[in-house]
Order: sequence, then structure tokens, then C-alpha cells
Amino acid sequence: MKILSGTSNTKLSKNICKQLKLKLVNTNIKRFADGEIYVEINENIRGNSVFVIQSTSNPANDNLMELLLVIDALRRSSAKNITAVIPYFGYARQDRKVVPRTSISAKVVANLITNAGASRVVTVDLHAGQIQGFFDMPVDNLFTTPLFAKYIKRKLKDKNLICVSPDVGGVQRTRGLATRIKADLAIIDKRRPRPGQSKVMNIIGNVRGKTCIIVDDIIDSGGTIVNAVEALKKNGANEVYVFITHAVLSNKAADKIKKSKVKKLIITDTIDNSQKIKNNSKIEVLSISSLMAEAIKRISNSTSVSDLFN
Ligand code: R5P
Repeated sequence: MKILSGTSNTKLSKNICKQLKLKLVNTNIKRFADGEIYVEINENIRGNSVFVIQSTSNPANDNLMELLLVIDALRRSSAKNITAVIPYFGYARQDRKVVPRTSISAKVVANLITNAGASRVVTVDLHAGQIQGFFDMPVDNLFTTPLFAKYIKRKLKDKNLICVSPDVGGVQRTRGLATRIKADLAIIDKRRPRPGQSKVMNIIGNVRGKTCIIVDDIIDSGGTIVNAVEALKKNGANEVYVFITHAVLSNKAADKIKKSKVKKLIITDTIDNSQKIKNNSKIEVLSISSLMAEAIKRISNSTSVSDLFN
């Protein structure tokens, strides 16, 4: 087994390698003057099972292209099999046609990864589980719920907790967490008048006097979370903790959180945000490196990955 890293989140790749007691494959990934990407693998990988770690986070197009070129280079260098480890799977939010004449970007990306030569995908908290079906190969979708549940049991166990889904689409994820920490469930009826804007219409459930735990897969502009926290507070919630897997944190989202009534935002390191969240005491990072390292080990040894979540 060999581990190779793209350039989107080398910190996470190094941490995963450290846990697996392996060295990253020596590569040369650089840009031509016009922005085109050049990939060269500086060691023999013939006959090896290679895991390529690359989040397709901002700049999504560059990071995706880099992933495709690395997979292609590995295929042409006779790797035995190639697993695309994509901690943050970008372009996943367009997973169906919500209005006529739009593209289904998650399917386009799945086709690209397949055609480049990957034989397996490992990812974390896919925006929609059915994206696994866009691939005709095994897709291991790892969950952060156990990681979040452990944190809550350790740090928030004495509070009167209720888990809150920020929209109807997130109910299954939120129910999973609520079951693990034995808390009630509330649901926010969120509408999107237009892309990038969100509005809270209703809260289903009683949050008065409770400590709310919002759980979601992505925080992008921060609009969903800030509006949800406002609405929960207006409905009598004591305090609101937010748990998000993929901290996209576009533009001024981190500042928005700092100024908001969020008690704490807990994110993971599927995306490297070290610069963006520097000096932001409201944001805490939980690393998924052990979870990913363990999953890679199990895939390599052909043992169960789902057992990790039981
Ligand atoms: C939407 O379905 C996702 O789960 C997130 O709620 C959404 O992407 C968050 O976006 P924003 O932070 O821009 O409101």
C-alpha cells in the first residue's frame, strides 16, 4: 500500500500517513505559467495499491483536475489499483435536477473520476448518500457522527440537549446523532428563495430552555447556520453548538460565525482552514485523520469498514 497526496490538504495527508507509519509517495505537482497542472510521480509504484488523498475544496476546479491527473499518472505507471480518498467531495450539492435545464455535477464528477482510472472511492459525509450510486465501483462513505458524539459526551453531557436539523434534508444525519447521545430531535423548515440565500420558516419541536446541537454536512456562506441560531434563540433556546463536517467557509463566513450567537462551531479537517480560522476562538477543529487512517488500513487488509461505526 502507498499513500500519495494532492496539494489541497497536505496537513491531513501527513497526519494520516503518520498514523499508518508510512511515508507519502514522492511527487512533483506544479503549475505551468498559464495555470495548467503538471503531475510527476518520482518513485516506482508498479503493482502497488495506491491511495490518493485529495479534497476537491476551493479552488474546486483546480483540485479536481489535480486529482484526475494524479489518478491518470498512477494508472499509466501500472499501479495495481487506485483508491481516490476524497475527504471533502466537492460538486456534491448538485445531485439532481431541482429546476429544469440544470446539470447534475455530482454525476459529471463521478464519471470523470471513473474514467481517469480509480477503482474505489473513500469519502466522508457525502452530501447525499445516493451519490454512491453514481459510481459503478465501491464507495466507502465514512461518517463523523461517532466523532461528534464522543465530543458531546465528553464536553456537554450535563446539559439539557436537543439535536436540531438545519433543514429537512439533514434529518437522517441529525437523528443518527440524537440516537447516539440519547437526545430529542427538532427540525428547522428552511427554504431557499434563491441559491445562496436561506430563510427559516418554522421550527418543528420544542427548544425552549434547551442546549441545541445543530449538525450539518457543509457550512459555506454561513447563512443557514446564522439564521438557524437566530431562530432557535428567538424560540427560547439557551445556547447553540454547531457541528459541521466540511467547513467550506467561503468569503467572510468565519467572521460571520465569530459575530453570531453561536456558542461554538466544531468542524473537522476535511478542508484545511488553518489560515481562515486563526484567532477565531469560536471555531474548534476535530481531526478525522485517525478515522481515515483506520478506514484505509481496513480497506487494504480487506476487513470491515462499517464495523468502525458500530
Ligand atoms: C445544504 O443542503 C447543506 O447541507 C448546507 O446546509 C448548506 O450547503 C450550507 O450553506 P450556507 O452555509 O451557504 O448556508
